[in-house]
Amino acid sequence: MTHRLRLILPLAILTLMVCAALRTEGPPLANGQDLTPPSELALLMREMAAHADSVRAGLSRNDKKLPPYPAGVKTLLTATPTKDMHIDPITYPTFGKDYQAKVDALYKAARKDRASAYNALVQSCANCHTTHCPGPMMRIKKMYVKVGG
Ligand code: HEC
Repeated sequence: MTHRLRLILPLAILTLMVCAALRTEGPPLANGQDLTPPSELALLMREMAAHADSVRAGLSRNDKKLPPYPAGVKTLLTATPTKDMHIDPITYPTFGKDYQAKVDALYKAARKDRASAYNALVQSCANCHTTHCPGPMMRIKKMYVKVGG
């Protein structure tokens, strides 16, 4: 082993160890998939999904009140999507406005009609997701509640 290698090798190993340590102690990576932070639109979607989940939880508890109105949805048509995500200029705004209208309808619905209004909202998520970003469809399909009975 040359003199120089003897110096560089331990340094290289040390650097690798530090990187490994930083990786495990660093902030959790989104499913370990990529290092780029989620887009504005992806963050909004998480907020919308969390909102829908809490509406559903409230329905199953027969809560008097709905969770707070999801104020972020007004930015649905303007939030920046993930780079290279295809956003169709005709259908996306149509689906987006439909979703916003379904949120409004839910907040205006009589308490007995909330479950149907909620299902219409989930249907609106599904409508957009059949043409845009089909990944979350499995999750969305499980979000419907039983009405009546
Ligand atoms: C108008 C179209 C549209 C509507 C309505 C819509 N989505 Fe999305 N959704 C998208 C697009 C486009 C993306 C990809 C966003 C990105 O990566 O920037 C996305 C991404 C997502 C994601 C992945 C977010 C992430 O962490 O990367 C989830 C989960 C999701 N949507 C759930 C929902 C749910 C639940 C609803 C209804 C409450 C909904 N979506 C309504 C278009 C829509």
